[in-house]
Amino acid sequence: MFDTLWINIHAATMAENQADGFGIIKNAAVGIQGKNVSWIGPAAELPGKPGALSQDVRDGGGKWMTPALIDCHTHLIYAGDRAAEFEQRLQGVSYADIAKAGGGILSTVRATREATEQQLYEAALGRVRTLMREGVMTFEMKSGYGLDTATERKILRVATRLRDDLGLRVQRTFLGAHALPPEYAGRADDYINFVCNEMLPALDAEKLVDAVDGFCENIGFTREQMEKVFKIAAALGLPVKLHAEQLSNQRGAELAAQYHALSADHVEYLDEAGVKAMADAGTAAVLLPGAFYFLREKQLPPVDLLRKYKVPMALATDHNPGTSPTLSLLLMLNMACTFFRLTPEEALAGVTRHAARALGFQDICGTLEKGKDAAFVLWDINHPRDLCYYFGNNPCSDRMPTGKTL
Ligand code: NIG
Ligand code: FE
Repeated sequence: MFDTLWINIHAATMAENQADGFGIIKNAAVGIQGKNVSWIGPAAELPGKPGALSQDVRDGGGKWMTPALIDCHTHLIYAGDRAAEFEQRLQGVSYADIAKAGGGILSTVRATREATEQQLYEAALGRVRTLMREGVMTFEMKSGYGLDTATERKILRVATRLRDDLGLRVQRTFLGAHALPPEYAGRADDYINFVCNEMLPALDAEKLVDAVDGFCENIGFTREQMEKVFKIAAALGLPVKLHAEQLSNQRGAELAAQYHALSADHVEYLDEAGVKAMADAGTAAVLLPGAFYFLREKQLPPVDLLRKYKVPMALATDHNPGTSPTLSLLLMLNMACTFFRLTPEEALAGVTRHAARALGFQDICGTLEKGKDAAFVLWDINHPRDLCYYFGNNPCSDRMPTGKTL
């Protein structure tokens, strides 16, 4: 009846609308057929003896099972590092000032343009493997450190190879509108036209793009410029998302909602009108406590408003060399609780069900439910809230991938 049957586990299904927030099933059993969950419930309700239901019965040793984790906002593919800028910031220079002086994103662009595809692949592979050790099995990976067609292509090809070589679910996001490349200095509109009319259509035609993102900020691009990009994305049938309201309120989230964005990300400066627009459009909020911490931001995202309007809150590492060089999604759980006052059940939903939603993957992963990916983690913990409580600890004891064996 089942290809594999797991018994002697406790499950936190993270399914929607569960009274305890986690969807806890003590003494659970999980039946798998092919790559999907085909049965989940209390072991006492199994329709027969385990040995009669599957030839492959696995004993979970009383561990906790959750859906595999999802890192729904990353910039994992780049060359070099920005440790020297970190030191500059420790001396009091701001992130925005470093960017204005030609450092910041542009210094990573220089290093990434010089790197070969193989060098980029190897650098990113190490980062992905580190995150996978914490049970992350679905990733979003953005381009945006190329800002020319050849280098953006190189980054998106690396994302494709990581997806295929590791058997992961990956959403490859084109972030051409991340920063103004030096060859377009003083000509932002020309660069946006190049993104819209050449780079995005060319990379989409090569089947390298699953979604489109941009950086709407006073040190990034304006709403008007982002709208041009969104129009082309819509014409190509690609979903959009936006780095919005990270350092100031540009009303980027409203624009994103107008284009039915999957998510608006960062959102520290989001106001009530923006939250309402997101709620109406079904746009998720992606909170990024690593960047908040590393930039020592003071403005908190409007968590109460997001709750009030029932906007799903996802959480991600935002791994990037400038503002969030973290390789721990579990640490983000603790930071989201400590800094943003999320409850443990909200935080865990943020890296499972709501992260799936932020990628448009809500029907395929993010919860332990019949018909969804049989992708899960076994944790050596006493309760799912422990994943948010400890920090700098990795209790992942086993994981079950979809696709290829890791
Ligand atoms: O998500 N805000 C823009 N993008 C990144 C930072 C990129 C960088 O500094 O290299 C972010 O924080
Ligand atoms: Fe980001």
